[in-house]
Amino acid sequence: MESATTRSKPRRKIIYAGIVLRRRWCLRYWLILPVLYLIGLILCARPLSRLFFPLPPPGSVYHSHQIFHNLRLHILTDDSPAIQLSSLWMYKKLKIEKPCKITYEETRMEMSVNNGYLIVEANGGLNQQRSSICNAVAVAGFLNATLVIPRLEYHNVWMDRSHFDDIYDEQHFINTLAGFVRVTRELPTELMEQYDHEISNVPIVQVPAWSPISYYLEEVFPILRNQGLVRIAPFANRLSMYIPPDIQYLRCLTNYKALKFAPPISALAKNLIKRMIEKSPKSDGKYVSVHLRFEEDMVAFSCCIYDGGKKEQFEMDFVREKGWKGKFRRRGTVINPGLNRISGKCPLTPVEVGMMLRGMGFDNNTLIYLASGKLYQEERQLSPLLEMFPLLYTKESLASPQELAYFKGYSSRLAALDYAVCLFSEVFLTTQGGNFPHFLMGHRRYIYGGHAKTIKPEKQKLALLFHNTSISWQEIKDQVKVMLVESNREGLMMPRIKKSSRHNSIYKYPFPQCRCLQEAQNLTVNRANVGDVLDHQLKHII
Ligand SMILES: *[C@@H]1O[C@H](CO)[C@@H](O)[C@H](O)[C@H]1NC(C)=O
Ligand SMILES: *[C@@H]1O[C@H](CO)[C@@H](O)[C@H](O)[C@H]1NC(C)=O
Ligand SMILES: *[C@@H]1O[C@H](CO)[C@@H](O)[C@H](O)[C@H]1NC(C)=O
Ligand SMILES: *[C@@H]1O[C@H](CO)[C@@H](O)[C@H](O)[C@H]1NC(C)=O
Repeated sequence: MESATTRSKPRRKIIYAGIVLRRRWCLRYWLILPVLYLIGLILCARPLSRLFFPLPPPGSVYHSHQIFHNLRLHILTDDSPAIQLSSLWMYKKLKIEKPCKITYEETRMEMSVNNGYLIVEANGGLNQQRSSICNAVAVAGFLNATLVIPRLEYHNVWMDRSHFDDIYDEQHFINTLAGFVRVTRELPTELMEQYDHEISNVPIVQVPAWSPISYYLEEVFPILRNQGLVRIAPFANRLSMYIPPDIQYLRCLTNYKALKFAPPISALAKNLIKRMIEKSPKSDGKYVSVHLRFEEDMVAFSCCIYDGGKKEQFEMDFVREKGWKGKFRRRGTVINPGLNRISGKCPLTPVEVGMMLRGMGFDNNTLIYLASGKLYQEERQLSPLLEMFPLLYTKESLASPQELAYFKGYSSRLAALDYAVCLFSEVFLTTQGGNFPHFLMGHRRYIYGGHAKTIKPEKQKLALLFHNTSISWQEIKDQVKVMLVESNREGLMMPRIKKSSRHNSIYKYPFPQCRCLQEAQNLTVNRANVGDVLDHQLKHII
C-alpha cells in the first residue's frame, strides 16, 4: 500500500508538473501566436497580392528615364579613359580570294537585241525603292529588255511625290549602265500611241514576291515579246536574292555605282559632311551617326509602352487610329507591349542610346550626327541625350531653312540626306531594323574594305538591363562593352553562303558577290587625309 502511495506521489507531481509545464507552454503560445500569425499573414499575403498584381517579368517595363535620373551624376562625372574613334575598329583587310578576271562589261557590250520595254513601279520608302530599281536593272538585263526609268509610286505613309530624277542622278544612271542595260526615259511614240500616251493604260502584270529568275523567262518574257513591253507593279521584292553571277553583277553595279543622289541632294549632303568634319578637329574628322526611330508613328506602330502614362496611351491610340484605321483593334489582334519590349522590338529612346554609348566609352566630346525625323515628345526625350553628348547635330541644326527648302515635306529626300551623312561616319549606330540600316551597313562594308563599322545593340539584353531600377553604372558599362566587341566582330562578318538568301542580300553583305566591281572601281575610302580626298571620294559615291 505504502509503496503505492509513495509511488503515486511522484506521479501526481509529474502530472502536476505536466500541467504547469503545459500552462507555461500555453502562455508561450499566446505570445508566439501573434508572431506566427503575422509571419503567416506576410507569407500568405505576398503571393496573394502577386496573384492579383503579379510582378512584371524582367525586361517588360520601361524604366530608362528613371535609371538615368538615378545614375545621372555617375554618368556625367565618369572620367574613365574615352574610346578613340581612330582605334575603335579592329579589322583585317579582306582576304583576296580569286583574282577578279571576269569583266562582265565585255560580254554585255555585245548584246544587241532589244526584246521590248520594261516598266516597273517601285513602291515603298527610299531604300525599298532602291532595291526595286536594282532588281529592275537585273531583270531588264536578263531579258535583254530596255528599262524605262523606274516610276516611284506615291504612298500615303511615305508622303513623297518625288520622281526618279528628284532623288537620283538620272544621267549618271543611264551612263553607268550603258553597255550593260539599255535605259530610256520614255517609251517610243509608236508604243505610247497604242496606249493613248498614258503609261497607266498599259495593263499591269503581277509577279509573285521573291520569284526566281526563271519565272521571268517563262512567264514575263512571252508577254514582252508579244506586246513589245511589260509593266510590272508592284515591284518591291519581286526577284529572288539568288540569281546567276552575271545578273547579280548588275545589281551590284546599280546599287553601288549607278545610283548616285540627284545634284541638290548630294550637294547639301557633301556640305553637311564637311560641316561635321570641321566640327571634329580633335577626332580627325570622325563622327558617330545614330539612326533613331522614335518618331510618333514609329512609337505608335511598335505598340510599346514608355513612361508617359495615360497621356501617352491616349496619344498613341489616336495616332494608330489615324494612321492604320482599325488595324490594331481587329479581332484576333493581340497587343502585348511587355512582350514586345522583352523581345527587343521596341524603338530605343534617346536616353537609352545615350547611356549605351557613354557606357561603351564614348565621352562627352564625341561628335554625333542624329539621323531622324521629328521625335515623339522631342524636348523631353532629347534633353538627357544632349546632357550626355553636347556635340550633337541634326540636318536641321547643320543646314539653314533655305538649304532645306528642297527637302521639306519629302520624306525620301530627307532620308537620302541622312543616308549620305551616316554613310561617311566612323561609327553607325542602328537602333531599329528596316531597310535604311540594312542598306547602310552594306554600303559601308562596300566602301570601308569590308567592315560595316556599325553598332547593332542587342536590344533584348538592353531591355533586361534597363528594367532594373537598382542597376549600377558599372554593371551597365560592363554589359554594353560586351555588345561593342560583338558589333565589331559582326561588322567584319562575311556570310559563308553559296546561295544568297533574303537575309544575306548583296545590299547588306556586298562581299563576296560584289567584290570584283569594288576592285574595278578601286574604291576604298581612306580617311587618313580626309580634307584632300574628300571631294574626290564623295564624287564617286553620293
Ligand atoms: C540576251 O542576250 C544574250 C547575249 O546576246 C543571250 O545570250 C541571251 O540568251 C538573251 N536572253 C534573252 C532572254 O533573250
Ligand atoms: C566634357 O566634360 C568635361 C568635364 O567632365 C568638361 O570639362 C568639358 O567641357 C565637357 N565637354 C563638352 C564638349 O561639353
Ligand atoms: C538589379 O541590379 C542590382 C545591382 O546591380 C543587382 O544586385 C540585382 O540582382 C538586379 N536585379 C535583377 C532582378 O536583376
Ligand atoms: C587605286 O587608287 C589608289 C589611290 O586612291 C592608287 O594609289 C592605286 O594605284 C589604285 N589602284 C589601281 C589598281 O588602280
